[in-house]
Amino acid sequence: MVTSGGDASGMNATIRSVVRCAIDQGLDPVGIERGYSGLILNQVIPMNRRSVSGIINQGGTILKTTRCEEIKTKEGLEGAARTLESNAIDALVVIGGDGSFRGAQDIRKTSGRPVVGIPASIDNDVWGADETVGFDSAVNVAVRSTDNLRDTAYSHDRTFLVEVMGRVRGFIALEVGLCTGAEYTLMPEVREDLNKIAQDLRESGHRGKKCIIIIVAEGYGDSREIASYLSQESGIETRLSVLGYIQRGGSPTARSRRLAATFGASAIEALLQGEEASIVGLQGNEIKIVQLSETISRRKEIDLELYRLSRNISQ
Ligand code: F6P
Repeated sequence: MVTSGGDASGMNATIRSVVRCAIDQGLDPVGIERGYSGLILNQVIPMNRRSVSGIINQGGTILKTTRCEEIKTKEGLEGAARTLESNAIDALVVIGGDGSFRGAQDIRKTSGRPVVGIPASIDNDVWGADETVGFDSAVNVAVRSTDNLRDTAYSHDRTFLVEVMGRVRGFIALEVGLCTGAEYTLMPEVREDLNKIAQDLRESGHRGKKCIIIIVAEGYGDSREIASYLSQESGIETRLSVLGYIQRGGSPTARSRRLAATFGASAIEALLQGEEASIVGLQGNEIKIVQLSETISRRKEIDLELYRLSRNISQ
């Protein structure tokens, strides 16, 4: 197994589940260190039940991870295939997100070996998986931080623009906006009229609202510019707080750990049932097998009803 792309809290719990479920099935699991870079460079380590002891509550990944550009090249893919061959690795479990699954598909084609993906990314942008490992953990970090900002915003009658991660998608922003009662949520999937928001801010005092929280997804635009535009146009002091990488770390929530456990078991089951190029997905409460080709070619839609609800109940 390999962890790849941006780390997500719950990756360790996933590794633990994969290792122990594989051993239960009479398999002999190994770990690849440092993502696809380690796969190309033959960084393979043995794993046993004890090598995953005490990691269920730890953020990050004991296998480490990288964003590997080389896996997009012919030489990189051939190196990866050589590592699988020379270590007699029969199948690969890729724990990562959307980008990692594109690499997984190419590795499958070059090596001819079965590959099963486990969705693990804070961005939650994997088609076929209602939720990814790490999403709930990141959201909870962002919710707690935003609650803290609400305290100081209230005390100073200030507006705060809180930037959350999510790459080019707004899944984290939507969830955090909804769960913190943010007055506005700016996410790439919905263009907002900033002029109208500035006008609302100007009038908010008359409506008895003195502290305002605006959640902005990093993919929406330049948060610094948005904060200064809103300050200028509304005359209300608008401070920016960029939450950044703290969202990726920390102990996984119970929900992320649960998902890690069930995804790990299902990935091993899928391999034993002969799946060759798929991911374990989630639809409702049910784990579903989704083809790699499908997940990488489709775009997961954001819930616009939830977005409207979030806005309505925060005004
Ligand atoms: O994909 C997870 C993520 O944290 C995104 O939300 C963010 O845009 C990106 O990774 C940051 O990437 P890097 O770790 O390469 O700076």
